[in-house]
Amino acid sequence: MMSEHLTVVKHPLVQHKLSLMRDKATPSSLFRQLLREISQLLAYEITSELPMTTKKVETPLVEMDAPVLEGRKLALISILRAGNGLLDGVLELIPEARVGFVGLYRDEETLQPVQYYYKVPAHLDERVVIAVDPMLATGNSSAAAIDLLKASGAKNIRFLCLLAAPEGVARMKEAHPDVPIVTASLDERLNDIGYILPGLGDAGDRMYGTK
Ligand code: URA
Repeated sequence: MMSEHLTVVKHPLVQHKLSLMRDKATPSSLFRQLLREISQLLAYEITSELPMTTKKVETPLVEMDAPVLEGRKLALISILRAGNGLLDGVLELIPEARVGFVGLYRDEETLQPVQYYYKVPAHLDERVVIAVDPMLATGNSSAAAIDLLKASGAKNIRFLCLLAAPEGVARMKEAHPDVPIVTASLDERLNDIGYILPGLGDAGDRMYGTK
């Protein structure tokens, strides 16, 4: 279990890439590439205590019990659609992980999450579950996604995001104090329509050029 509820990864590479992503002049292609690169650096942190096993390996000299990840015990859950930008990079690092998707959109008036898709791997109760969504803003969608994962049996859940607002962190801590969060930045606050400040805008739109 990770002990901190919130971990902000301050590594210079992460912070440099994040600043490039925040720049509104950064085109979608570069934005996606940077998100993929940061996702792998954040994954390094969030996977630091993953369960390990061993397997027999013959080096050119001897046989040994070599440490390997219990990869099949891991589930990555992308909170659509922006979660896919983080998912791709993490899955590249851990290709044996099982993958699920939670489709939630935010009602722009109430800011409450509305579910439109849900498909997750079997036996979530036996897996370390890493839920990914770039923006932890109000925390309503993230908390609702974690509710769904817990209803499917998940017990050991972590949350990976690129940016977090204090409001979202507080909401998650209240709803899911057992779910550690790893992020690249704790930003200042939300604006009156629920966007993170200073933020980077709408992550999905920035990724896919849909605005
Ligand atoms: N979702 C986003 O994509 N950006 C924000 O700032 C808040 C929620």
